[in-house]
Amino acid sequence: MVITIFSPKGGVGKTTLTLALAKVLSEKSRVCVLECDFSPGDFVSLLDLDKEKNIVNACLGDYKACIQRPQGEKFDVIVGGFPDMQENLKYADMEKLIKSLSNEYDYVLIDLQPQISEVTVAALLKADKVLFVMEDDISAVSRTVGMFEYLRLHGFLDAGRTCAVVNKVRGKKKYITAVDLGIPVIYHIPYLRKLNEYKDKKMLKHARNLKDALFGVKKEKSLWRRLVNGFKRVKQKN
Ligand SMILES: Nc1ncnc2c1ncn2[C@@H]1O[C@H](COP(=O)(O)OP(=O)(O)OP(=O)(O)O)[C@@H](O)[C@H]1O
Ligand SMILES: [Mg+2]
Repeated sequence: MVITIFSPKGGVGKTTLTLALAKVLSEKSRVCVLECDFSPGDFVSLLDLDKEKNIVNACLGDYKACIQRPQGEKFDVIVGGFPDMQENLKYADMEKLIKSLSNEYDYVLIDLQPQISEVTVAALLKADKVLFVMEDDISAVSRTVGMFEYLRLHGFLDAGRTCAVVNKVRGKKKYITAVDLGIPVIYHIPYLRKLNEYKDKKMLKHARNLKDALFGVKKEKSLWRRLVNGFKRVKQKN
């Protein structure tokens, strides 16, 4: 299964969520993360990896030679490239790489850069699920709506396979509730004050819930939560 994680806005938490999801999924499955980011991406420095084993060499050469495993992890990655490298890749190159990886892994997660290009479009169209990451601020929400419309108009996105997660939620939701995105918002992750890496315990707990939400696993509410909801209903009736 190919899951592409995307946002038209930078800094919303795509990489953090992608790696946290990869860590959670790799507990039981074979996972490869493809960093489709030429800005350049973060994986090389974040995970201490070799920048030569990147997406461009994986597309144009032997992709197996470009697979790296971050220390202490059970998932593999292919790191992103640099800005001048992107034009070397065509839609078909990316399509082929995604296909090869999906034959070898249970999950291929693609951490996608915000800009649209041939490569990005392949990552959107070849995905079984596209997860939009957004923050509840006016710019992120309006850009997501605009981008969503653009992608749909050009046939670059299948709305039926797309959903959204709201990240860094602080207090009451404001903008996200004011618009109809036309796609389900499957999960909310709070702003985690002391977060400094994807492996943070709280982030991994949310990644587990996000994974369940992505695959439609309904969580049984705790006894305590059911009691509180029951009392609320009684109170409303009176
Ligand atoms: N739920 C959260 N609470 C607090 N901080 C968060 C949360 N999620 C992510 N962050 C922080 O936000 C910053 C940006 O996250 P990240 O690099 O994952 O975003 P990105 O969308 O991949 O950015 P870019 O577009 O630059 O690739 C990081 O410092 C990360 O630790
Ligand atoms: Mg990123």
